[in-house]
Amino acid sequence: MSRIISAAAGAMLVLSLGSIDAKAAYNAAAGKAIYDGSCVACHAAGIMGAPKVGLKTAWTSRIPQGMEAMVQKSIKGYQGTKGMMPAKGGNMKLTDAEVGNAVAYMVEQSR
Ligand code: HEC
Repeated sequence: MSRIISAAAGAMLVLSLGSIDAKAAYNAAAGKAIYDGSCVACHAAGIMGAPKVGLKTAWTSRIPQGMEAMVQKSIKGYQGTKGMMPAKGGNMKLTDAEVGNAVAYMVEQSR
């Protein structure tokens, strides 16, 4: 029995390692709640220069830089040409992974 379980665990490990790429590292579905809680205030309507979620043209120049770059800027905050993105959207309680999931959700809604 324990052999079967460890074989299954091994197979799962291989599967999950095999699927680590830029997209799979983030969970867009889990990011929705983060987005609704901490990002929606600026990103739903495109307040203060924030790229509006769901508006493709607001994201076409941003998505090509890659998830990693967008996530790092969202975690640390940055001053862009359109406005100021506060670190973690101003909610410092968020983990880096939660911010990454929120970015994945926003990008998924906007491509
Ligand atoms: C106070 C308003 C505000 C909040 C809240 C906010 N953002 Fe932003 N965000 C901005 C602005 C403004 C920009 C555009 C800055 C620029 O490029 O000029 C931006 C840009 C971005 C970008 C594009 C970055 C890039 O590289 O082009 C991402 C991704 C992003 N925000 C994610 C988030 C996430 C995730 C949250 C919630 C955790 C969040 N934002 C909350 C204002 C906000």
